[in-house]
Amino acid sequence: MYSITLIPGDGIGPEVTDSACRIIEATGVNVRWDRFEHVGHAGVQKYGQPVPDELIQSIQTNGLCLKGPVTTPIGKGFRSVNVFLRQKLDLFVNLRPCKCLPNITTPFKDVDIVIFRENTEGLYSGIESYDERLEIADSIARITRKGSRRILDYAFKWVIANRRKSLTAVHKANVLKLSTGLFLNEAKIISRDFPDVWFNHFIVDNMAMQLVLKPEVFDCIVTTNLFGDILSDLCAGLVGGLGVVPGANLGDRLAVFEAVHGSAPDIAGTSTANPTALIRSASLLLHHIGEIQASKQIEWAVHQVYEEGESLTPDVGGNASTEQMTDQIVHMIHQAPTVFRD
Ligand code: NAI
Ligand code: MG
Repeated sequence: MYSITLIPGDGIGPEVTDSACRIIEATGVNVRWDRFEHVGHAGVQKYGQPVPDELIQSIQTNGLCLKGPVTTPIGKGFRSVNVFLRQKLDLFVNLRPCKCLPNITTPFKDVDIVIFRENTEGLYSGIESYDERLEIADSIARITRKGSRRILDYAFKWVIANRRKSLTAVHKANVLKLSTGLFLNEAKIISRDFPDVWFNHFIVDNMAMQLVLKPEVFDCIVTTNLFGDILSDLCAGLVGGLGVVPGANLGDRLAVFEAVHGSAPDIAGTSTANPTALIRSASLLLHHIGEIQASKQIEWAVHQVYEEGESLTPDVGGNASTEQMTDQIVHMIHQAPTVFRD
């Protein structure tokens, strides 16, 4: 029995976390959920703070969390719960695999890109100020050698362990010479320890263009916080949108699994949210805790449902509801082989 912290989140969060919990249950992996409903706006209303202390303690105790999206007020109000959790729990890796699924119409067929986004510093450090008199706003992009080394080291080791081929570092060191220059320099230094990984680097604006022209030539990408945020939505767009791309926030001991997408207020409550991204995040969670067969069953079942194409949500060209798609994935899990080989 695993104890896992659960944050349903808001907007489409409760709908898609519900789906992901049903899918884990269908694999037979036994979980006791520590559920935290009041996070973000609901947390402010109930406890006077967006992230209750008990939530942090729960993740620290369990080591694991499955998280739905949490809305952040724009331009005012409380700090992003998502960014706060990543910093507070020191989850320095944000891993986001973007891979094509069958039956989704996109301009590209063979995209299979894994993004490693530095998750705790850069322009999201939270060092912000506003000078009322001068009417000047500052947001400091703090990048450290230690912060750069640990994400780069993680990415290079992951490439080797997962038998991938190349790692592309993305930066803006032509203009932001000191901050992203430090990141690029560390990438070049660390790359010498990994002669089996084909290493190269691109400036972020050129990278954005390359990704929409010929994404199939890229394999793994490592970059700083803001660029990683933007490029992972871009890569999600290449493989069918935010409805399908999962994510993992990883630290030395703790891990929080969540989709790349946000709370999607435009479709919340319509039962049309695609649960795939959070279901695949749950699969990453199971893989992380060594439940490899259950994780592979989920990937297999999702693949089957896309291949069949009858139970897809509107964002990927179908007309099924969140629940109908989830039902079909549960059904496929029950048909899935019990043993998968590598
Ligand atoms: P969003 O990711 O919520 O939505 C962008 C577009 O993608 C919308 O058209 C939405 O309908 C669509 N979409 C997203 N997920 C989908 C799904 N599962 N199925 C079908 N369509 C889906 O981004 P947006 O609108 O910029 O942000 C909304 C809120 O979410 C903001 O408050 C933002 O701060 C928050 N957010 C939270 C994140 C988290 O909790 N990790 C991550 C990103 C945003
Ligand atoms: Mg984002």
